[in-house]
Amino acid sequence: QQARRKTIFDLMEQIASHYQKALRDHPKAQTAVDYLRKRGLSGQISRDFGIGFAPPGWDNLLKQFGTTEESRQQLLDAGMLIENDDGKLYDRFRERIMFPIRDNRGRVVAFGGRVLGDDKPKYLNSPETDIFHKGRELYGLYEARQFYRKLERVIVVEGYMDVVALAQHGIRCAVATLGTASNSDHLRTVFRYCSEIIFCFDGDEAGRRAAQRALENALPTMEDGRSIRFLFLAEGEDPDDTVRRVGGTGFEALVAQAAPLESHFFDSFAQQFDTNSMEGKARLAKQASPMLAQLPNGVFKELMIEELAKRSGLRRQALEELQREATPPQS
Ligand code: GTP
Ligand code: MN
Ligand code: MN
Ligand code: MN
Ligand code: MN
Repeated sequence: QQARRKTIFDLMEQIASHYQKALRDHPKAQTAVDYLRKRGLSGQISRDFGIGFAPPGWDNLLKQFGTTEESRQQLLDAGMLIENDDGKLYDRFRERIMFPIRDNRGRVVAFGGRVLGDDKPKYLNSPETDIFHKGRELYGLYEARQFYRKLERVIVVEGYMDVVALAQHGIRCAVATLGTASNSDHLRTVFRYCSEIIFCFDGDEAGRRAAQRALENALPTMEDGRSIRFLFLAEGEDPDDTVRRVGGTGFEALVAQAAPLESHFFDSFAQQFDTNSMEGKARLAKQASPMLAQLPNGVFKELMIEELAKRSGLRRQALEELQREATPPQS
């Protein structure tokens, strides 16, 4: 098992090099190079992230790497080949820009691939495999850790292109979840390497929902000494759009003004209902109290409960009562 796993990592690394080489010298790579240039990416940033190109064709990888029964099985296990109903094998990624996804030890465990135009699906990701668990990996985290001697903060964004575009503008600490919502495992992973997380999702309905989920997932991870903030972008923009419009320095300024978790927490209720009316205060207390119960014990939790008491006009004791009511009895 140990030996076999090792060779799968070797294979993935070789495939990543193969895609990178294709971006440099495959006869059909010019459209891919033009595409990356159009999106404002330099050769240097593309190299830093190991971006490559999967040329058109159904059997490029199969022919190059799948010469033995054993190697074909490995390619299948790694999610790089697909087997059709007739048992025929073909390349999963064809005519796409390839983003290698590295685990915390820097090993290539998966790929994301983007079409060059407007075809669907826009992005194709490796499936879950023995070496790739979407719910755990974050695109760009290894690269960020390589870039900074000590990582101070991480900006969590939605897309590969957001990570790379921010890097292009000198912001080398962005990471993206991989087609899944951010979960508390992701956050715990990030907090192993730094103490501050800034969430920066797209300025659209999906992005706002993602921020709401992120807030809920963040609560249990908010130990004292950690900081979580939320950066909301202009309507219709994602971090890639914004950094291209305002530049790296402009984006840093936005990050500096990002809302701390506590403001976003209370603001999100104020957006949903009138938290100044008595009825609104009741709703606030009812909904917020059980959420605050999820915070790890500490000074931050105390302050949040104080703040809720102030805003709702309820005493702590009454708030704790609401927590008990909302928590189902342990069986
Ligand atoms: P660009 O158009 O290249 O700027 O992409 P984007 O990163 O802005 O994409 P979008 O905001 O639409 O989606 C954010 C992320 O969701 C992407 O980076 C992907 O990880 C994922 N995603 C988007 N579209 C698809 C899709 O069609 N299939 C899958 N599996 N994931 C997708
Ligand atoms: Mn979006
Ligand atoms: Mn985008
Ligand atoms: Mn986007
Ligand atoms: Mn710039």
